[in-house]
Amino acid sequence: MAMRFLVMGALNYDHVYGMKHIVAPKETAASLRLETACGGKGLNQSIALAKAGAAVWHGGMVGEDGALLVETAAGYGVCTDFIRTVPGRSGHAVIQVDQEGQNAIVLYGGSNQCLTKAYMQETLLAFGRGDCLVLQNEVNMGGEILAQGAARGMEVALNPSPFGTEILNWDLSKVSLFFLNEVEGEQMTGKQEPEEMVSALCARYPAATVVLTLGEKGAMYADRERKFFCPAVLVRAVDTTAAGDTFTGYFLAARAKGFSPEQCMRTAAQASALAVSRQGAAPSIPVWEEVARMTEKSGGSIVENGEILR
Ligand code: RIB
Repeated sequence: MAMRFLVMGALNYDHVYGMKHIVAPKETAASLRLETACGGKGLNQSIALAKAGAAVWHGGMVGEDGALLVETAAGYGVCTDFIRTVPGRSGHAVIQVDQEGQNAIVLYGGSNQCLTKAYMQETLLAFGRGDCLVLQNEVNMGGEILAQGAARGMEVALNPSPFGTEILNWDLSKVSLFFLNEVEGEQMTGKQEPEEMVSALCARYPAATVVLTLGEKGAMYADRERKFFCPAVLVRAVDTTAAGDTFTGYFLAARAKGFSPEQCMRTAAQASALAVSRQGAAPSIPVWEEVARMTEKSGGSIVENGEILR
């Protein structure tokens, strides 16, 4: 049976402000544009998995204003049976994107912080050995969800984002795959060099696979047998929001299809390059066919405006 994925994570309304530069302390700056779209690291990763052809269920909470978040997930093929609606507002994010496509994000937790023990147990009951639990750090009870999912025999993939020191109290020995960027790598290990971050994480969690994304510099893969570097696809960045989420979803979906680690990294790098070349979070994530076309075109090495140039 194909691997089933349960992503327990945030669903957000993203308010994306195009900026000349990201606002500094004490500064007031006018934005160049405003767009709203569905996002949230959890929802983005669910959508990336679904667009890549995986069987994915999303677990999480929306507020009374959350119908569009649920419809959007369902529209991309994510099973929404376990998403619950609670009183109050859904989560949202205020995202500044500068002219190089770099971002800065402020989160409002809202319903993402309303998960309960009863809800978590009821949801996890439907999953077990052979299934994969995908977590980030935008909902409450992250440590408990990780422990319960692992106790049910699920494989656990963790994107420790946004990083908070509470994560270091979770039982991270139960994590099979870590997906993190340089900022989170430094926060988790105290190291500054990517090589050192990966080595520190592999030494601490010897059974785990570590994937460290380095933006336009590429990404590193390490497990107990090997370590290698995957170059980035050359891309004119428009909006880097959800690049990491796309990478995570595509890597996991490719792995579930039986791809080698090298193929998983390449596929994930291509998918996130396409995402970076388009505006928004969830809407920017490509479908599997686009990524496959990229592989056919000489390895898919240059992307602009969501199109593969060569
Ligand atoms: O990773 C990108 C996401 O982070 C955005 O969609 C935003 O909602 C925040 O959760």
